[in-house]
Amino acid sequence: MTASILAEAIRTLQDGGIANARQEARWLLNQILEASAGQSRRSDDGLTPEQEELLRSRLNRRVAGEPLQYIMGNVDFHCVQLDIGPGVLIPRPETEQLVEIAIGLYPGDGEICDACTGSGAIAIALAKTFPQAKVTATDISARALAWARQNASRLQLANVAFHQGDLLAPIPPAARFALITANPPYIAPDEYTRLDSTIKDHEPPEALIAHDHGQAIIKRLACDARTRLNPGAWLVCEIGDTQGPPLKEHFRRQGYQNVDIRRDFAGRDRFAIAQQPA
Ligand SMILES: C[S@@+](CC[C@H](N)C(=O)[O-])C[C@H]1O[C@@H](n2cnc3c(N)ncnc32)[C@H](O)[C@@H]1O
Repeated sequence: MTASILAEAIRTLQDGGIANARQEARWLLNQILEASAGQSRRSDDGLTPEQEELLRSRLNRRVAGEPLQYIMGNVDFHCVQLDIGPGVLIPRPETEQLVEIAIGLYPGDGEICDACTGSGAIAIALAKTFPQAKVTATDISARALAWARQNASRLQLANVAFHQGDLLAPIPPAARFALITANPPYIAPDEYTRLDSTIKDHEPPEALIAHDHGQAIIKRLACDARTRLNPGAWLVCEIGDTQGPPLKEHFRRQGYQNVDIRRDFAGRDRFAIAQQPA
């Protein structure tokens, strides 16, 4: 019975132009079946009318272009599963690489800050990896922070705190950090207009767009972080793939040392690291 439901779901997604229809239909159906595991099911092992209706509505949302992750309501990120939905950026796989770079640069003690935290992805992955570290995260968006707080609370992480505001401004003035991370908005306004409508119609524009060729927020953070990093501490930022050379120059002019641009698995410049002089 569920085989015929699955076949119909695949057909719906294929007819709707979804490239990965077979896999997505399986995920959507499995999520509904797993939610009812342990509850009484119909004897023919099919879906109840409510479940069928739920599946139909989720397939329709997907065909209408809503990102699968919003419909599923969660995403795997690094060492955790995060709840996500409208109002917050869907964490991307390349940002897991930023977490790995940050883990390699963290000296083992001292506070950590994650600016532009969104769903809390980077802050939560670091708080989970370093349970002894105090992690402070900021975001300008109250909607995004609601997701971040929900995630930290569900994962029972007591070592991460969230503040609403611009970059490092909402953090207590005396706080100093052994590591600052950020995946800030870095897409130039003209580049944003060319993005896929699945992104433009659903993900928050304030999570993506930055002026000055996409570099405005990263440049401001580079300046602010100089006053907040301990001697020898690192700033790690995700960047756009054409922004390596100008940002390297900017970080150097700000007085950082050991400035470097790291590549993602596809070989594109995607991360800037810079060290506060000792
Ligand atoms: C690209 S998203 C990254 C979210 C999350 N760190 C991740 O990797 O999935 C950028 C985030 O920065 C936030 N943001 C934009 N401008 C900001 C600012 N001036 N200060 C703090 N957060 C800002 C947005 O609300 C959004 O959540």
